[in-house]
Amino acid sequence: MNFPAIAAALPATARTTFAGLPFPHLASGKVREIYDLGDALLLVASDRLSAFDVILPDGIPGKGIILTQMSLWWFAQSEKLIQNHLLPDQAGEFARRGINDPDLQLRSMIVRKLKPLTIECVARGYLIGSGWSSYRKSGEVCGIRLPAGLRQADKLPTPIFTPTTKAPKGQHDEPINDAQGAATIGAALYEQVKSLSLALYTFGHDRARAAGMILADTKFEFGTDAAGNLFLIDEVLTPDSSRFWPADEYKPDCSPPSFDKQFVRDHLVAIKWNQSPPAPRLPAEVITRTQEKYLAALRNLIG
Ligand SMILES: Nc1ncnc2c1ncn2[C@@H]1O[C@H](COP(=O)(O)OP(=O)(O)OP(=O)(O)O)[C@@H](O)[C@H]1O
Ligand SMILES: [Mg+2]
Repeated sequence: MNFPAIAAALPATARTTFAGLPFPHLASGKVREIYDLGDALLLVASDRLSAFDVILPDGIPGKGIILTQMSLWWFAQSEKLIQNHLLPDQAGEFARRGINDPDLQLRSMIVRKLKPLTIECVARGYLIGSGWSSYRKSGEVCGIRLPAGLRQADKLPTPIFTPTTKAPKGQHDEPINDAQGAATIGAALYEQVKSLSLALYTFGHDRARAAGMILADTKFEFGTDAAGNLFLIDEVLTPDSSRFWPADEYKPDCSPPSFDKQFVRDHLVAIKWNQSPPAPRLPAEVITRTQEKYLAALRNLIG
């Protein structure tokens, strides 16, 4: 779908729950609801927003639509690098399964039932966030020694793979090194997702750069089918799973503004929320400006 059509379809109020869908509910993620379609899964992206790993009481209207449409675009772009979990004919699948609500269609994907790997595959091209914190303490990120003298937000000599554990709900993912990653999912699979993550990062970085954005870092998830075939799953290269910066505002030695939750994080820091639940309500202006940011990232990419 093209950008103007998506922008025009965004709801006026956030859709954060999905009562009444006629499918068995399997699980709730922080953002997504997962339903069992028998031979497939229905992955519905809500408008929920999490910050510091806590779900906020206010959603961002249409955020789930933006995330799903952006993921669909990236899945199509990245198909040559790795197959993904989408069933080939999404429109046909919706029709066949009686999913006719246009809002629901725009925020949903019908996907293969796969077994998610138990690590999160993070790739970084810049030194920011938890990578920067770790470097300042030890000169390393996930066991990778980096050159001395790097500044916050500096571009790394080459992108690095910095996986984490997949922590249960409410807990924080912990960084792991190559040996721990290989021990968790097996050495061969680990090498495979490591090189794929780096290739996908570089691909995403170059595409984003052409759209006026820097892809600082991103998280991929992979899953396997019963025969052990590997697929890219979940969402891909969205502002929720990635840190995008406007290229023209980028400078090292600070934390550049990001395309996604910057206003939310700034607000929550300003009001000195202690980062444990319950999270506070957001002012209307923070919600509007955040929605604009998500939409701007989509427009930059596909518009
Ligand atoms: N094809 C698939 N088969 C099985 N599980 C999947 C598939 N695609 C995605 N998932 C799982 O669905 C869930 C999506 O939920 P959601 O995006 O809300 O994530 P989360 O795990 O709560 O948090 P976060 O993405 O922030 O780490 C994830 O647990 C993901 O691993
Ligand atoms: Mg997720």
